[in-house]
Amino acid sequence: MKRRSRPTRRPPDPWRAVDSQTNIAEMAAGLESRGRTPAQARLRRRFLRFVPVRAGDRVLEVGCGTGVVVRDLVSLVGRRGDVVGVDRSRLLLDRARQLCREAAGHARIALRRADGARLPFAASRFDAALAITVILHVADPLAVVREMARVTRPGGRVGVQDQDFGVVAVTHPDRELTDRIMRGVAEHIYAEPHSGRRLPGLLRAAGLEGTRLLTDVYQDTTLEPWTKSFLERRAERAVRFRLVDAATAQRWLDGFTAVVARGAFVLTLNYYGAVGVKPV
Ligand SMILES: C[S@@+](CC[C@H](N)C(=O)[O-])C[C@H]1O[C@@H](n2cnc3c(N)ncnc32)[C@H](O)[C@@H]1O
Repeated sequence: MKRRSRPTRRPPDPWRAVDSQTNIAEMAAGLESRGRTPAQARLRRRFLRFVPVRAGDRVLEVGCGTGVVVRDLVSLVGRRGDVVGVDRSRLLLDRARQLCREAAGHARIALRRADGARLPFAASRFDAALAITVILHVADPLAVVREMARVTRPGGRVGVQDQDFGVVAVTHPDRELTDRIMRGVAEHIYAEPHSGRRLPGLLRAAGLEGTRLLTDVYQDTTLEPWTKSFLERRAERAVRFRLVDAATAQRWLDGFTAVVARGAFVLTLNYYGAVGVKPV
């Protein structure tokens, strides 16, 4: 079978090096906006139940960003558990510290700067190690999952959840243009836009056992603020990557306005969550 060729000079994924971006406040606000979006909150919490995260657990989240998942986790582990979030970005961690200070159970949250491929923890320290919408962005996914497995106790769980940009459905009058923008932008940014569906194989390659998969769908029929900014960023990048010109990108965005006005808007995006157990 013929493989589609990928662009060879790929602009870096902004999530790989957040602190060198010029729009960090906007990126942080985007994470919080996604976190608040009801359909996103539901699918995140379904995954945490699927892992499962239990009362009393010591849980690590790799790539915690502004702490959306950390704040969910601290309520799940309760008074006997604790949560550690690590991230490469000093600036996102600063924001996470502000937001977590206001959260119930904040004394049981610790936030540290670290790379997921070199975790500053002793082996077997955690009951569960998670990475939510992070594996898509890292240079060496296997190295990160192996590190997560190392710091998890035998019998503990390693859980990863990612979008898969090969499975985005969206209503728009111009299907060819929509495909050119959505697929073209994803292929320019991500080393592996199909990261989601590859997660079970990744966990197995890292030596984890009993791998389970939860396929979930983000569904939006009203153009939530987070979806709107997601589509706007896609349009902006399509221009930057010269997939379309500025007028075409604007025409594409205007096309959504008309669909929403008719009450006919649908966007779905698949999320894959995989969990494996560290061998005893
Ligand atoms: C899309 S955000 C997800 C944040 C959070 N998990 C959430 O769902 O809201 C990806 C995060 O991964 C972090 N990140 C990227 N590469 C990393 C690495 N190698 N080690 C640790 N964190 C990393 C980024 O700084 C960013 O905060």
